[in-house]
Amino acid sequence: MAPVPSIAATVHQRVADALSAALPEAGSADPLLRRSDRADFQANGMLALAKKLGGNPRELAGQVVDRIPTAGNADPDAAIAAIEVSGPGFLNITVADSAITSTLAARAADDRLGVPYAENPGTTVIDYSQPNVAKEMHVGHLRSTVIGDAIVQILEHRGESVVRRHHIGDWGTQFGMLIQYLIEHPHELDHASDTAAASGEGEAAMARLNRLYKASRALFDTDEEFKDRARRRVVDLQAGDAETLALWHKIVDESKIYFQGVYELLDVEVRDEDVVGESAYNDDLNQVCDELEAAGVAVRSEGALCVFFDDVKGPDGQPVPLIVRKSNGGFGYAATDLAAIRNRIGTLKADTLLYVVDARQALHFKMVFETARRAGWLPEGAAKQLAFGTVLGKDGKPFKTREGETVRLVDLLNEAVDRAAVVVREKARELSEEEIAERAAQVGIGAVKYADLSTSMSRDYVFDLDRMVSLNGDTSVYLQYAHARIRSILRKAGTAVPKAHPELPLAPAERALGLHLDEFAETLASVAETYEPHKLAAYLYQLASVYTTFYDQCPVLKAEEPNIVANRLFLCELTARTLRQGMALLGIRAPERL
Ligand code: ARG
Repeated sequence: MAPVPSIAATVHQRVADALSAALPEAGSADPLLRRSDRADFQANGMLALAKKLGGNPRELAGQVVDRIPTAGNADPDAAIAAIEVSGPGFLNITVADSAITSTLAARAADDRLGVPYAENPGTTVIDYSQPNVAKEMHVGHLRSTVIGDAIVQILEHRGESVVRRHHIGDWGTQFGMLIQYLIEHPHELDHASDTAAASGEGEAAMARLNRLYKASRALFDTDEEFKDRARRRVVDLQAGDAETLALWHKIVDESKIYFQGVYELLDVEVRDEDVVGESAYNDDLNQVCDELEAAGVAVRSEGALCVFFDDVKGPDGQPVPLIVRKSNGGFGYAATDLAAIRNRIGTLKADTLLYVVDARQALHFKMVFETARRAGWLPEGAAKQLAFGTVLGKDGKPFKTREGETVRLVDLLNEAVDRAAVVVREKARELSEEEIAERAAQVGIGAVKYADLSTSMSRDYVFDLDRMVSLNGDTSVYLQYAHARIRSILRKAGTAVPKAHPELPLAPAERALGLHLDEFAETLASVAETYEPHKLAAYLYQLASVYTTFYDQCPVLKAEEPNIVANRLFLCELTARTLRQGMALLGIRAPERL
């Protein structure tokens, strides 16, 4: 279906045309249109332009006004109802009610709500949700997963080809220890030795891995001979020894079962083919090092292969290099990331690489990107870290348990769902236990996601469940209730597709709601361009708020005339669809009833 030009775009076009007709020497000057409290829009562009060309801004503004047909003068169908010069040379513009309603009707007629696809979509590879094998997922993995998933949805909705990459930590020296222990204690991962798994497959898998991790760590720390055997096992792993690889697979698979359990709870889809961990690049690492060295990008320093940067120095003033290969011949985190860039640009043909990773890894990515650029693998500016801040406890410090340990993501999520169940139960007494459990999951998980996504990504935020599941304020629960309330009105009305009536004048609250609904497409475009999901969250919160005002001021089912009832139902329905679509892009469910 065809994209629908927004009212702002239409008004912008009219004013820009009038401006270039009034002042041909200005070419296509920008009228600088923005929403305003005084009228619907204000255009400020005449000020700077008159100054630049040495004219009088009020005079210029007057000439523009003369060239714009309005509903008040020549053209009863004009989108602009009134336009007037104000102050030193602004234009105050009021849009015609009929233009608002008919634009919204065109949106409602389209499955995509009139939202256009990007003009030149490309291919983006996004690296997000990258937990580590044999370890628990913690609250940092929450951010990467939730932000990454929202950005995937938002970009795909615009028509971008998105390749997802879960760069899991599945390679490294700790696997020598785990595998060696498994060889010496072959039944350690057996399912039969489980005590009853309380919360499903995934948790049972993690329990087994934890047991393996603790037991092998204890031996590694106390038994020098085991330590030696474990170190030799790493070499076997990197050399591709069959028995070693088989056990490594077993550990990775066990972890994937656990990860999937968490993803299910989080209501996020992670496909197996997109899980391409550090190990996937193992065969490329020698080549990466050879090319870097041959190109002079990397040099040997104290036995290691290093890349140096003028502006990266340690506290002692000495340069801190990126170590691509350690002096013992082992490859680290940097080598894998460099190989991944070559693959993503060279083989996957990405135009853009995104990395949704903790801000504390900013220096790592800065050095990796610069190295890849010097090596000619990465075009300037093609890679971007979407660096996110830290999740804090109520004490303002990085979130820890009372015992000082990192908080398990599963525990947090379960607690959020429990809290949500209390809220849901209080609100809706006629629900069955099963329905309460389902809504509680949608409300609780939505609340956690929304709290994360509604804060600008780079900022730290406090994990406060009381605030997150509150019905009032900037929460997903507020959005979900607004949506459910609309759905309930529509059910009561019984009309499947309410009809818009552009001939009706609009009340102020209807106009405010209508103009905000119309901004959905532009909001999505800007959110996709700047990778800022919090702007979508803010838009939706604002939408629920203007809807609430509309609902308080404009009776819907009890309106005085059938056409007004229909038109208000139409506004309700479009609001519900816009909320639902926007929330879906953030990974948040919009239940029919709450
Ligand atoms: N596994 C890492 C962690 O848990 C994050 C990996 C980020 N992605 C990357 N390509 N380095 O901290």
